[in-house]
Amino acid sequence: MGLNAKDLIRLLLLSKSQSLYIYDLELLKSRFASITMDKPDNVSFLFPVKAFPHCKLLELVSEYFDGFDVSNENEFNLVKDCINDDHVCWSSAPYDTSYPGFSYNKLFVDGVSSQRFNLDSFLGQQSRFGLDLEQGITSSAIHMHLGFQNNTKDSILKCAEYIEKKCRNSIVTEINLGGGFDFSSMSEMQDCVLDVSDILSDYKIYFEPGNWVTQGCGAIIGRILGVLKAGNDFKVTTSVSALGHLRWSQSIELSLKGLLGVKTKYERLQLFGPTCSESDIIADLYDGESSLNLGDFIIIKGLSSYSYAWRCDFNGIKAPDLVFI
Ligand SMILES: Cc1ncc(COP(=O)(O)O)c(C=O)c1O
Repeated sequence: MGLNAKDLIRLLLLSKSQSLYIYDLELLKSRFASITMDKPDNVSFLFPVKAFPHCKLLELVSEYFDGFDVSNENEFNLVKDCINDDHVCWSSAPYDTSYPGFSYNKLFVDGVSSQRFNLDSFLGQQSRFGLDLEQGITSSAIHMHLGFQNNTKDSILKCAEYIEKKCRNSIVTEINLGGGFDFSSMSEMQDCVLDVSDILSDYKIYFEPGNWVTQGCGAIIGRILGVLKAGNDFKVTTSVSALGHLRWSQSIELSLKGLLGVKTKYERLQLFGPTCSESDIIADLYDGESSLNLGDFIIIKGLSSYSYAWRCDFNGIKAPDLVFI
């Protein structure tokens, strides 16, 4: 069906809700297939459950990926029915999660079977996760989530070379490089994976891309709840909340669907979410034309999957449901 405005509007009306996340299954499938296609033998892809905690999505992922990155028992429960003995589940929790009910024969646990490190001293940054790699390796499986969505081909290759030096003559056999992919194209990602596979050819390598994998495959649609015009300034309130429904979506594509109104020039058009917070701002536009009226539609593409993962009912505004088309 695709993410065209007519279909998105129809789905919102059918749902009888104010806002709805909509993801295109065919698009997701083709991305999962391209990401995992022709990967080198020593490379595995794990999908981080936290990036898109939805059973249907995770079931689809399990057909393409080699397993999952799980933070805890709750995330493990979301995937336990769609994994088999060939899938790997790698725990990224910094504490021992091997309590009853949370066990799987391929599970690695930080601090028990795997150690999580950061590369802060090499990269000159302060990351959220892990011990300093300089502290010494005591496990055969190590994990580094390079985070912050800024891992280009160059930065990943530099890190892989550094890790290779650190792991020489150590007990390490498995290296998990985490997610945070920021490639400009699928082929750049594939080239990078091939190069890392060469640099770390003596090891089994894991990648855990989350957000980048589903980027561009979804949208959120909502209604216009109010339009206040003061001269050439418009203040428009929408059912989509920047705070509650768009968290971590850093490069959104906005489309405003005025259905019946006459186009009017504006000097400034501010788009607000429906919470009582002044910071609930979706966009601040200058010098354009708009025909928006009450009941019209707002469509936002370019979502981060974390917007769905972090969605909340803040200020009594119902978190939108998600449908796949
Ligand atoms: C351990 C670990 N792996 C992978 C990811 C996925 O990162 P991204 O969605 O940016 O690719 C995260 C995200 O926080 C993470 O904590």
